[in-house]
Amino acid sequence: MNKTDLENAKKILKKYNQEHLLNFYDKLSVNQKEILINQILSIDFDEIFSLYDNSMTDNFPLTQKVSPLPYIDKCSISKQDVLFYDSIAEKVIKNNQFAVVTMAGGQGSRLGYKGPKGTYMLNLKPVKKSLFQIMCEDLKRANEKYDVTIPWFVMTSDENDVATKSFFEINNFFDYPKDYIFFFKQGKLPIISVKRNLLLQEPYLIREAANGNGNVFASMKNDGVLDVMMRLGIKWISFGGIDNVLLQNVDTLFLGLTIFSKNQIASKSIFKETPMEKTAVYCRKDGKPAILDYTDISLELSESKDDNGNYLYRDANMLSHLMSIDAVNKVADISLPYHRAFKKNAFVNDEGVKQVPDSPNVFKFENFIFDAFYFFDDMLLLRVDADREFAPIKDFTGKFNPDSAIEKYLGVFGG
Ligand code: UTP
Repeated sequence: MNKTDLENAKKILKKYNQEHLLNFYDKLSVNQKEILINQILSIDFDEIFSLYDNSMTDNFPLTQKVSPLPYIDKCSISKQDVLFYDSIAEKVIKNNQFAVVTMAGGQGSRLGYKGPKGTYMLNLKPVKKSLFQIMCEDLKRANEKYDVTIPWFVMTSDENDVATKSFFEINNFFDYPKDYIFFFKQGKLPIISVKRNLLLQEPYLIREAANGNGNVFASMKNDGVLDVMMRLGIKWISFGGIDNVLLQNVDTLFLGLTIFSKNQIASKSIFKETPMEKTAVYCRKDGKPAILDYTDISLELSESKDDNGNYLYRDANMLSHLMSIDAVNKVADISLPYHRAFKKNAFVNDEGVKQVPDSPNVFKFENFIFDAFYFFDDMLLLRVDADREFAPIKDFTGKFNPDSAIEKYLGVFGG
């Protein structure tokens, strides 16, 4: 270990009061010492501590003017119009101008499943299918229908990149043309304890975690994904998470309607059934498309309706978006804000013993994809049927568990 590096690392830790990170240094192998010191030198301590400090004080009331973001109800579109929008989208798909990005870099900390969430096996009796396979089958159906191969970009993170790639290898890429699957890795940030300390994941490793699905744009740029897409002539991109087993990445009505309405961005939403459910909804803030956090929603606002009796603030995000390549290029250069999340993460305590918490214990800072929409004047919002398109898996005991996802999946695909 280079002496200067060690001294520099010690100085940094002293400055930020994080000397506990070297508690086990003397017992580490040469290789482990190098890993730890290099990690210390690579972390932006100023950034993580200012995120922590700001998140403690930044509790200002909303100052922007909130107004509704109009939606279109998917089931209200006539059959004739559906065919019209389908035909617009089909041209784009058949011209190989459409790609899919799957955001699969999350920790899945609520599910607590060992391994990337996309490798979780859903028990669709009698067969078991991983979430990656389910998503791949959806793409294969579209490929067959339109006689193309849609390029599929999978975002991983430092924590799950190797495991994700080897899962694809072991499963022979689910018989998808291998050359059309691209992996890219998102950014990361150290997690931080409630008491403002970084934590060790191993005696030689500081725990860092993926910095939110909103990092997708910057990562696409930094990892060369945007270049690849431009080389391939991609014009439209579907963005979605890995954990919704009913996600329709290739929805010609959605794509055709977005193009026809001259929007550069679009989202699908689901109706928020109960007014005070802790769910954020789409809105406009100072005229720009945005998301209204549930803490900013009063009962009065949630129950307000337009002249036709339609609720104005009941469209919840379901992590299904469309963006033009120009829109992605634009937001890839913008620093999106970080949000603080309280999550469950294992760590090594002062005695060197691994602690596995059963409730949230650390703060994590994340970019959210929808914060990018604020940089556009308008967007299309398409409200869809949650029974047909929204079956996410978040944990084992809550509303969005594997059993509820299986039931919905079988409701759509039979079995
Ligand atoms: P969630 O916000 O539900 O997070 O992600 P999660 O990581 O799956 O689970 P928890 O909150 O730790 O329990 C929604 C989607 O966004 C992706 C996830 O992989 C999932 O598909 N995501 C989330 C990322 O790609 N990167 C992130 O940093 C966070």
